[in-house]
Parts: sequence; C-alpha cells; structure tokens
Amino acid sequence: MTITEERKWWKEGVVYQIYPASFKDSNDDGIGDIPGIISELDYIRSIGVDIVWICPMYDSPQVDMGYDISDYEAVYPPYGTVSDMESLIHECHKRDMHIILDLVVNHTSDQHKWFKESRMSKESPKRDWYIWRPAKYVNGVRKPPNNWRSNFEGSAWQWDEATQEYYLHLFCPEQPDLNWENEEVRKAIYDSAMEFWLRKGIDGFRVDTVNMYSKGLIMPDAPVTDPDAEWQFAGYQYCNGPRMQEFLSEMNAVLAKYDAMTVGECPNTHTAEGVLKYVSAKQKQLNMVFQFDVVDVGMGPHKFQTTPFAWKLPTLKAAIAGTQTLIKGTDAWTTAFLENHDQARSISRFASDAPEHRVASGKMLALMLATLSGTLFVYQGQELGMINAPLEWSMDEYKDVDSSNYYKMVNDRSGGDPKSLASAKAALQHLARDHARTPMQWNSHKYAGFSSCKPWMRVNDDYTVCNAQQQQQDKGSVLSFWKKLLRLRKEYSDLFVYGDFELLDAANENLFSFTKEYRASKAFVVLNFTGQKQAGASPENSKLLMNTAEEPKAESLLPYEGRVYLMA
Ligand code: GLC
Ligand code: CA
Repeated sequence: MTITEERKWWKEGVVYQIYPASFKDSNDDGIGDIPGIISELDYIRSIGVDIVWICPMYDSPQVDMGYDISDYEAVYPPYGTVSDMESLIHECHKRDMHIILDLVVNHTSDQHKWFKESRMSKESPKRDWYIWRPAKYVNGVRKPPNNWRSNFEGSAWQWDEATQEYYLHLFCPEQPDLNWENEEVRKAIYDSAMEFWLRKGIDGFRVDTVNMYSKGLIMPDAPVTDPDAEWQFAGYQYCNGPRMQEFLSEMNAVLAKYDAMTVGECPNTHTAEGVLKYVSAKQKQLNMVFQFDVVDVGMGPHKFQTTPFAWKLPTLKAAIAGTQTLIKGTDAWTTAFLENHDQARSISRFASDAPEHRVASGKMLALMLATLSGTLFVYQGQELGMINAPLEWSMDEYKDVDSSNYYKMVNDRSGGDPKSLASAKAALQHLARDHARTPMQWNSHKYAGFSSCKPWMRVNDDYTVCNAQQQQQDKGSVLSFWKKLLRLRKEYSDLFVYGDFELLDAANENLFSFTKEYRASKAFVVLNFTGQKQAGASPENSKLLMNTAEEPKAESLLPYEGRVYLMA
C-alpha cells in the first residue's frame, strides 16, 4: 500500500463546515451561536458527516467576521462561552464526530493585547511581534515601504501616527500581521491559539492563510499588473516565503503531540511541486490543503473584475484534475470542495440556479464532489442546494468588508459612473462572499427558522422552497440525494476516496467525464454541465450505481444530469 492509500479517519471522513453567525440562533438575538450548533448536531450527523469544522468563534471586534481575533482563549460573547465550546466538543465526540477549529495566526485583531502593547512605543517589548517599518519618502512625500495591495483593497501598510511607522496588514488595517520571524511570537501562538484548544480535546485545525507566515525580510515591490493603480497585487511576494517549511515543521511538532489533523488554506500556489511542499507526508507539514484553482475559476485578475459565466468547462475540469492528480504516485493527500464561507454558492457559479434547474444542478455537483478523491468538504446549506441572493438585493444587504471595499473602490475610481457600478454589482451578485453567509434555511417559518427575530444578515428570499425541514421529507430533494451519495462514497471508499482519477475528453465543453480506478475496480462518472440534453450512451459492461435524474434515459443525459457507473 502506498502512503497515499494508507487509511486515516481524516481522509475518509466527510467534513461539514459551520459559520457560527449564520447557522442557528438559540436565544433570538438574530446571531447564530454555539448552543444553536449543539441543537443541530443530530441533523448534521444524519447527513452522513464525520467531522465538524467551526469557523472562528473566538473573541473579536468582527471587522472580518471573526478572522480578526482579539483573544484566542475566549469566545465571542454573542456566540457563547468557553464552557459552551467544551460542551460542543463533548457532544460531537458523543456522536462519533470529530471537531476541528479555525486557526487564524497570520494576523490578530488590532484589539489583541499583543498588538496594543506593540503599538505603544518603538521600545515596547512586543514591538517586534508585528511587522513595523519606517516610511519611504518620494520627493518629500511619505509613502509605505512597498506597493503591496491588501487583500481587501488599499495599501497593505497602515501609518501609525503615534510611533511614526507603518505596520503590515495583508487584510484589513484592523488585522495586523504577526511577525513569525520572532521565536517568542511563535511560542505564544502555539500556546495560546493552539494548545489551549488542543488540551480541551479538539481534533485539529483548518489553518487560515497558512502560506503567508513567512514574508522574508526584504519585502520588495510587487510587479505592476494594474498600471492605473498605486497598489499592486502581491500574492506571489508574500505567499510561500523562504521560511514557510521551517515554521510549519515547528508547528507540526506541537500538533503531533495531539495527533491533530490539519488542512491549510493555500492560495496563489499553482504548481503541483509548490503544493507538495506542504502536503507530502514525509515533509510533515500539513495533512492537506485547499488549493484555490477550482474556486478561482471565473474570477478576474482582480477577483470581482469579471463577467459572470465567461469561463468554459475545460478550465474547470483542468483545475479539478490538478487537485486530483496531486496524489497520483505521490505520498500526498488532497481535498475536494466547491464552497466555503469565502465563496459564492456553487450552483449559482458553476451550474444553474434557475428554478427549473436548481435541484438537478445541486445533485449533479454533489455527485461530482462525492466521487472525487481526497477529503470531502461540505459547507452549511450546500447539502440543501442553497443559492446566491438575487440581483434585486441592494448593496446595503452585503455585509462583507471585501464586498463593500470593492464597490467603494470602483465608485472612487470611476467617479461614480453608473455603468461601472452596475457591472461591479453584477460581479458581486455572482461572486461575493456574502452569498455563503446568509442565514441557514431550516424551515418555511419567518426568518427560515434560523431565529425568531430579524437576523444580522437578510435571509435569502427563497427559503420557503429551499429548507431543511421540507427536504428531509422529500425523497427527491438535494438533501436526500447527499445522504444516499455519502453512503455510496463510504461503501466504495477505495474507488471514491482513494482511487486514481483520470480525466476523459478534456476539451468537451458540455460534458465532464472521468474515471476512478483502484486496483481491479473502476468507476465512470459523466456530468452534463448544460441546460440541454446531451448524447452520452452508457458504457458497455457497466452497472449504473447512482444518478441524479428521476427518470434517466439510456440514450441521453438530461439537463444537469450526472451519473456514476461501476465497470465490470
Ligand atoms: C481567510 C479566511 C477569510 C478571511 C481571511 C483573513 O482567507 O477564509 O474569511 O477574510 O483569511 O483572515
Ligand atoms: Ca444568538
């Protein structure tokens, strides 16, 4: 058996991701919370899920929805308490589920006590815990140390009036980057952010922006790719820096004491060689990563600078093939996912959310995911086929700083040009992170059963036709399909979790076909990515294992139909 084939709970376990603010509100203040999550663990278990991933529930001013942490050892009070978290850990384990938390240690909140101390003076013992640099003067004008653009628009450097220096923030100014070069900082991170929770019994971490810890000491300008702008995309400068592997080995030694699972977020890394540095088993860094190639399909050079649906199916296939072949003949492990809290809904992006196609699309994408190798991740509401909010929603309904900053940037740069603003809005309706963050749709009562008072974010208008209660009773629902599918994935885990992927007919713009192979067994998957019927005869000597349509026709695939066959 190769190392990749070696059985592990974190390889065959299906992960369900929870966004605490939007999952379930137990005390009717309009904000989801930990007791709410506990109350739905039986629902989660009933889908066939084995691992629960909780997005940041730590104390935070919530500038970036909890990815700006002010105290790793406390819980954001509206979500609950540390003791609620202890109950959640216990209740997951009682149901035979593992639980992992988000580890956000590239940066903290500017309200974290470490940063408050760091910014007090240049002599502060914690000054070097963050990345401070003097200004650069160009023709007497004060400028930041380099031209890096933050991930949320604007310069990645913030001027600090009190101490007359800039600090680095790859995300919001309220999210200063920690200085991983400093050993004391690393020890504090392992202790406060990791071991505090590992000692409480959690089973691992999803590791936020894991390839950004090492920026190097020089931090040169990024190449100019947007000549009209002062700040430039710098992802290739600050990702995968020189000491990454060293830092992760050190971190791994801590995790190993607890046998914890890790899945890291790995943006701006497009070669197998680059990814393997993180996930090859012998390197002992991370168990697996989220590559971005698949979810980046259809995004413009500046993420939202794009026309919806301008991509072609071969691009998506190639991206998926890249994540699948990563483990062929290597000792690495991979992931299969289409959604998370940073991505718009997959039906709306990759298939069709039109009322007549939505259910078929949800099932077809589910079939694709559940037959791919690697650890499978499902994001809350994906199991119901939740879709993006409609175009009619005004910008006020968009709560994410990434969306509002982008819209504001377009407004400033275009001088408020209505055409530019309309296309920015269209792109946001297609790709904004907000679409993943609307409240979970539990039933057809007001506010979708998420809460009995007005939620922090508007409920998607379609909750009366798309909700968990109704789908639990409907054998033809997306939810019922996911349940069947996850049983199939487990039954044939050799093929679907561990098997070798091979892409067929790569240039076909309508059908996505591939095989999975494990020793003598072989499966064939065919997916119709169009709203029209497509010819596609059943392969000879095969048995239909599962398909998405109620009444499959042998000779053709219905719109957005998917099928999986077992070959003799
Ligand atoms: C990751 C998170 C995202 C957050 C960012 C900064 O990409 O998934 O939600 O905004 O890191 O922490
Ligand atoms: Ca609440």
